Amino acid sequence: MIGPRTQRAEPAPWTDGRPVRGRGSRPVLPRVSPPSTDEAPAAARYWIESARHRFSSVASFHRTGSSLVAIGAPSELVDRVLSAADDEHHHTEICPALARRSGAHDPRVVADVGDLTRHRRRVDGLVDTAIGALIDGVLGEGWAAARCESAARRSPELAAALGRLATDEARHAELAADIVGWCTSVRPWIDADLRFALGLVPAEAPRPPFVEELTDDVRARHGICTRPDRDETWAIALEGAQRLVAGVRVAAG
Ligand SMILES: [Fe+2]
Ligand SMILES: [Fe+2]
Repeated sequence: MIGPRTQRAEPAPWTDGRPVRGRGSRPVLPRVSPPSTDEAPAAARYWIESARHRFSSVASFHRTGSSLVAIGAPSELVDRVLSAADDEHHHTEICPALARRSGAHDPRVVADVGDLTRHRRRVDGLVDTAIGALIDGVLGEGWAAARCESAARRSPELAAALGRLATDEARHAELAADIVGWCTSVRPWIDADLRFALGLVPAEAPRPPFVEELTDDVRARHGICTRPDRDETWAIALEGAQRLVAGVRVAAG
């Protein structure tokens, strides 16, 4: 994923889940059809963007599964990664449904999963697998889970859809922590790489696309995290990732 010596040139872009990363760690995302979704209301565009990230997460999990096999990880981790890819397929149905509810007309993701990883054929080694799990899983998916959970509390009519997303993302974040745990059990000294990667993450929460102009009331009506919830959940998720890395250091002595 993100190499330990890969400097982020700018603040972390917003992500929803763990999309495939491309140049400059920018998410690699599928196209959406029809193009008229560009004219959809802001909240709908947010959910379309979320669907693109979830679809990219399917590709990301496939890639992570191949990486884990290549570095000799336990098959139990590989199985859980493949199961997470199935969850993300389901998320690519939930998010367009939320987009339709917010005013988009039948948005569909247009891509093959393989298209998104074509630029990076080689699987990741152990260090990059651990860093990807830490940044995009423990932090990224942990944050996505917390945002969906807080949005579900404020949008009771969307609680089922948002609750499903929250539950799945929380499970993915746990899986990511277990991947980090296995990687560091094999090579405890990679804690320095993990600390470095986490040190590049800004303390300020990334801004979601399209909805900056929307009030928190409007966001809540469309199942989108409010600003205070966004900032609070980011701080908690980041602290959780920092605690995990600090634990590696202690375990390594
Ligand atoms: Fe997801
Ligand atoms: Fe996920």
